[in-house]
Amino acid sequence: MSRYYLTTPIFYVNDAPHIGHAYTVLNGDAVTRWHRLLGDDVYYLTGTDEHGLKVQRAAEANGLSPLEQADRTSRRFREAWKELGVANDEFIRTTELRHYRSVQTLMQRAYDNGHIYSAVYDGWYSVSDEAYVPEDEVSEADIESGRVERMTEENYFFKLSAFEDRLLEWFEAEPRNITPEGYRNEALGIIRGGLRDISVTRTSIDWGIPVPWAEGHVFYVWYDALTNYATAVGYGADQERFSTWWPSVRHLIGKDILRFHCVYWPAMLMAAGVDHMPRCHVHGWLLVGGAKMSKSAFNQISPADLVDDFGVDGFRYSLLRDAPFGPDSEVSHEALQHRYNTDLANNFGNLLQRAVTLVHSKCGGVGPAPDPDHPLADVAARVYADAAAAWDRFQPSVALEATWRLIRDTNEYLQATEPWKMDPGPLVGKVLGNALEALRIVCVLACPAIPASCQTAWDRLGLAGSPLDQRLPGAAVWGQYPGGLTVTAGDPLFPRLKG
Ligand code: ME8
Ligand code: MG
Repeated sequence: MSRYYLTTPIFYVNDAPHIGHAYTVLNGDAVTRWHRLLGDDVYYLTGTDEHGLKVQRAAEANGLSPLEQADRTSRRFREAWKELGVANDEFIRTTELRHYRSVQTLMQRAYDNGHIYSAVYDGWYSVSDEAYVPEDEVSEADIESGRVERMTEENYFFKLSAFEDRLLEWFEAEPRNITPEGYRNEALGIIRGGLRDISVTRTSIDWGIPVPWAEGHVFYVWYDALTNYATAVGYGADQERFSTWWPSVRHLIGKDILRFHCVYWPAMLMAAGVDHMPRCHVHGWLLVGGAKMSKSAFNQISPADLVDDFGVDGFRYSLLRDAPFGPDSEVSHEALQHRYNTDLANNFGNLLQRAVTLVHSKCGGVGPAPDPDHPLADVAARVYADAAAAWDRFQPSVALEATWRLIRDTNEYLQATEPWKMDPGPLVGKVLGNALEALRIVCVLACPAIPASCQTAWDRLGLAGSPLDQRLPGAAVWGQYPGGLTVTAGDPLFPRLKG
């Protein structure tokens, strides 16, 4: 059995979730659900990043303690993912005690191994990015606007510069360690451009995890945050569990945090003596009117607003299908609605409605078996192969596009055979059996993206259990709709949206 441990970034608790965060979490949800269908042993982790100056200042602005701010906002993330039907196995918070222990253990090991030394940091810091900004990347405007702040303090530094060669060796040995390819090249460029040592502790703030070897220091929030991925699978507490899951770890991230995940974090793991380096799957930004959707730009859209308009699965599908994984994507209500109407209302929803209605008018509500040698069998086989390859490459939009070919071809088949004009009997039975079988396969292949709707469709076809419990590739093979099942009519699965 293969293991599949997938993580999302842990989100800052300075503000509520928006659809940029949802985009990451839904891509991860769909991909991990696909792996569950393959029978893999899956662990899907998300959570919140609760320390640091950004959160501390948000708390002050709201008149709360940092922990109160974290409690409230962390809950909002947790609830948002629940409302979106996300099947994460765990939700981690960096204020948990086990996480303190894990960070302290990991950093202590790097320190004991001689990779951390004391020095003074005198330079710029961006609170909104929680990042040290090199002098040559700071503009007058950054200083005037307060985007960066001057900081002079006694810190501990990580000898990142000493890890260039080892990082390059890892890139050499693992040609697919970062996908898509363009982001791998970006990370390589950062390493080849030369790495500077980086501060890993702070003394001017106290909202953080204490440094075990140095009184008055807390860890810089990024090393605290990155270590969550190790904490969740038992780092420093349960060695057996850690070695079970860690070799299969993959980080799903937005391109904004590539440097931290693809350069700093693997180097820190090397420094602490952890053998296995994580793979990263990197996506671009959701844009609104050409600008990155973000809290600071005040252009964020909340997932709940779109769920009101499209339903949970309508939102999940339209976003996953319309914003390909990798490049930036402009999002608009209009485009999402168009996608919803075209693919869900007109194609999937309509096919189900038509098939079920006809089974009632022509076959007394009992679903007939398909033709085992029908040409749609070949379509289904090709669709499965293409979808499986796309899920494997972390390309949900491509996988869904492939899956929808089976829907489209089945609709065209009905259009061509016109079963509504046929008399009741074995001939119309075969046609409808083929449509039901195509729908059965679609329910399995589409359930990673739209689990609740596929369950409803599955039930209406009279099938027992759940599409989520099927096993691939077996369940995608043509000819398994048994016939003789009671098919149930119902309201349209995806009502057409107007306006
Ligand atoms: O960076 N489009 O947290 P964060 C697509 N706490 N994805 C977006 C997005 C957009 N417009 N805006 C945000 C942090 N995201 C750190 C991470 S991990 C150890 C610590 C998503 O709240 C995307 O996944 O700023 C991005 O990488 C992440 O949210 C940043 O979330
Ligand atoms: Mg951010």
